[in-house]
Amino acid sequence: MSSNGNPSRLLLRDLAQVVSSTGSAAPLRGPALGQVDVLEDAFVLCDGARIAGVGRMRDLGALDGDVEELDGRGLCAIPGLVDCHTHVCFARDRVGEFELRASGASYEELHAAGGGILSTVEATRAAGEDGLRAAVRRHGEWMLHAGTTTFEGKSGYGLDRETELASLHAIDAEGGIPTWLGAHAVPPEHEDADSYLDFALGEVLPEAAQIAEAADVFIERGVFTAEQARRYLEACRDAGLALRLHGDQFSEQGAIPLAIELGVRSVDHLEATGEEGIRQLAASDVVGVLLPVAALVLGRPMPRARELVDAGAAIALATDFNPGSAFCESLPLVCSLACTQLRLSPAEALGAVTVNAAHVLRRADHLGRLVPGYDADVVLLDAPDWRHLAYHMGGEVVSAVVQSGRLVWRR
Ligand code: NIG
Ligand code: FE
Repeated sequence: MSSNGNPSRLLLRDLAQVVSSTGSAAPLRGPALGQVDVLEDAFVLCDGARIAGVGRMRDLGALDGDVEELDGRGLCAIPGLVDCHTHVCFARDRVGEFELRASGASYEELHAAGGGILSTVEATRAAGEDGLRAAVRRHGEWMLHAGTTTFEGKSGYGLDRETELASLHAIDAEGGIPTWLGAHAVPPEHEDADSYLDFALGEVLPEAAQIAEAADVFIERGVFTAEQARRYLEACRDAGLALRLHGDQFSEQGAIPLAIELGVRSVDHLEATGEEGIRQLAASDVVGVLLPVAALVLGRPMPRARELVDAGAAIALATDFNPGSAFCESLPLVCSLACTQLRLSPAEALGAVTVNAAHVLRRADHLGRLVPGYDADVVLLDAPDWRHLAYHMGGEVVSAVVQSGRLVWRR
């Protein structure tokens, strides 16, 4: 509180540009995804945790009372970035596996040999509650420094009751939006996927549903079939969870038809999606979440983003931050990949990591744009033109981060 008793105000002034997507009523599709409003020589006024005003400097009237000011000369303001798909809750890393892959081993081979996801499961089970919280905190800070002010986080490296619930608690306690990825892999103590699902739905779901907002499942050859996923998702829906799924990462196994039939929020990955899947998704309300870092790291084909957008599908972009296929917390880098590998424009990339990602998390009525009444989450880019978000590949493009109206980080 300031001395006059008003909640504190923060004025970001003399910004080179203030930029956000034009619309937000529904997930942005087709040409609307590429439409941004650009204000030059502009300000953003935060009042407490909300945006109170956005405009040109010449239209900024006198402000009574205490206002903290931040000099934005040479900087651009964009909305705080929203990462709608991360696996933040894991212990240890898999740098050794990274090295093996660099000399030719495939992700599926490593998975089949008990490496991959299951080796992180072992480490995560051993980490304990405090260890998991510390891991999520550390990863969340990395994300914040890259401009992410809202992140979803999945469990899925516990796969036993205690560690799955501890993972969801850790994500929640560290400010993430928890998703129960109870069907990420079959852990070694279970004979097969069906008996593991008996356990997960019987023993873990009732409590997981009290903490998580959504449920997620990995449909893939050798992991869970579409029929097993249907059983898992229907039970999760009945327990009150929203639904999402990992589909078409390596092969098409019926994920898109199932996603549409069940009315899930999103189907994520889509590296292997063909013509028919593109057509079906475009005609549906399901958002396709594209994860170009995972495709790049695993040497897979990139998802067909351009065709999806042109066909009218709603897409979002996310990091997929995880220790195996995407040890990368940077949404600016994801935007760079979107513009260089997915044939999206900088404006489409911005809409996909703000408004559309917020839609996947059902928070687009208050997150993802710089307009009055929205949450005062703002990223300041160290650039005279906002398109440096994607142009400055792998660079230190984020200069400062405002979260809930407070300057929380500055380079
Ligand atoms: O989304 N595809 C499944 N899960 C993660 C990878 C997890 C891991 O390799 O640890 C993904 O890419
Ligand atoms: Fe993932």
